Amino acid sequence: SKTYRIALLPGDGIGPEITAVTVQVLQAVGIRCDLNFEFSTGLIGGIAIDETGSPLPEVTLDLCRSSDAVLLAAIGGYKWDNLPRSQRPETGLLGLRAGLQLFANLRPAQILPQLVDASSLKREVVEGVDMMVVRELTGGVYFGMPKGIFKTETGEQRGVNTMAYTDAEIDRIARVALEIASKRGNRLCSVDKANVLDVSQLWRDRVAALASEYPDVELSHLYVDNAAMQLVRAPKQFDTIVTGNLFGDILSDIAAMLTGSIGMLPSASLGASGPGVFEPVHGSAPDIAGQDKANPLAMVLSAAMMLRYGLDERDAADRLERAVTAVLDRGERTGDIMAEGKTLLGCKAMGESLLARLEDTSALG
Ligand code: NAD
Ligand code: IPM
Ligand code: MN
Repeated sequence: SKTYRIALLPGDGIGPEITAVTVQVLQAVGIRCDLNFEFSTGLIGGIAIDETGSPLPEVTLDLCRSSDAVLLAAIGGYKWDNLPRSQRPETGLLGLRAGLQLFANLRPAQILPQLVDASSLKREVVEGVDMMVVRELTGGVYFGMPKGIFKTETGEQRGVNTMAYTDAEIDRIARVALEIASKRGNRLCSVDKANVLDVSQLWRDRVAALASEYPDVELSHLYVDNAAMQLVRAPKQFDTIVTGNLFGDILSDIAAMLTGSIGMLPSASLGASGPGVFEPVHGSAPDIAGQDKANPLAMVLSAAMMLRYGLDERDAADRLERAVTAVLDRGERTGDIMAEGKTLLGCKAMGESLLARLEDTSALG
């Protein structure tokens, strides 16, 4: 049997609850597919601050670097919201992405037929939605210099961040997106703010130049404000979207709600080489933490992305995804996707049902 070393980063809030479910489910799928997962747990985020003083201890980064893949739940919480920026949980997550050079964040948003009525939008608007948001993850205004809160000559405070992209940074994310689009519906929409921002003009020019190498991919451009509106008005027009770090953060939360709940949306963060980080799009949900209410499916589906994109174990990935579908087919729902006539489950019970479904699906092949 094959052995994979997986770095587990449960983090804060609902993180440990959804991690527990995901580990159980991965172990079960491992047994059925003859895969052996060696999990090592690392500290990141608020819990790492509490235990070590740093949101990303060096040992955690080393653990991730020496693993085959990293499975991260979520970080953050009220308790740490007033610390200086360098000591905040979010800084740990950004440090992990930068440290592993994970410049490409893939955020698929697919509406499952079972959840059409869980969306806040009308059935006819969301039915059939199937898109991939490709978000640049290690550049843009999240990382550009200068940044900070400075004192001006007149004694005022001035907060500064810088939105910057080099042509090389744009080219590598554009290539990833063009490759993905060419394997999906052959349509790529690049989202920017080129009517106002110089950095976006360069973005648009470079994406267009690279797209000429992919004659089969139909390229379009949208300004980000219009893209936000179009995502809600007529989401089915989108196949693959490519955009910068901040715009991708915001647009992927919108895309998440098309599918019913952010509690359903997985993501994969990939670099040119080395281990990827697989993490839900949602955060640590401090409002429901510790109450056994969290939806573990975004993290389970992130584990499926880990199997598919990180470890190339497609059969195991298919089984996990089939188990999720099977649970939903039975009408079982966590609170965030609950609807009339369905059965409300907690996080743990959802995990148990997934395990039972894995038994059924293994019987089916
Ligand atoms: P959030 O995604 O944590 O929560 C937004 C809303 O969605 C909340 O009402 C929450 O209860 C609900 N929700 C989220 N995930 C859910 C799940 N799996 N099941 C059921 N409901 C779920 O966003 P927020 O409240 O803006 O942020 C909370 C903290 O998480 C902040 O500290 C933020 O910085 C952090 N955060 C971390 C990540 C990450 O680790 N990748 C992502 C986003 C936010
Ligand atoms: C996400 C989160 C993070 C981001 C935060 C927590 C740093 O919102 O993964 O979408 O903005 O990238
Ligand atoms: Mn986000």
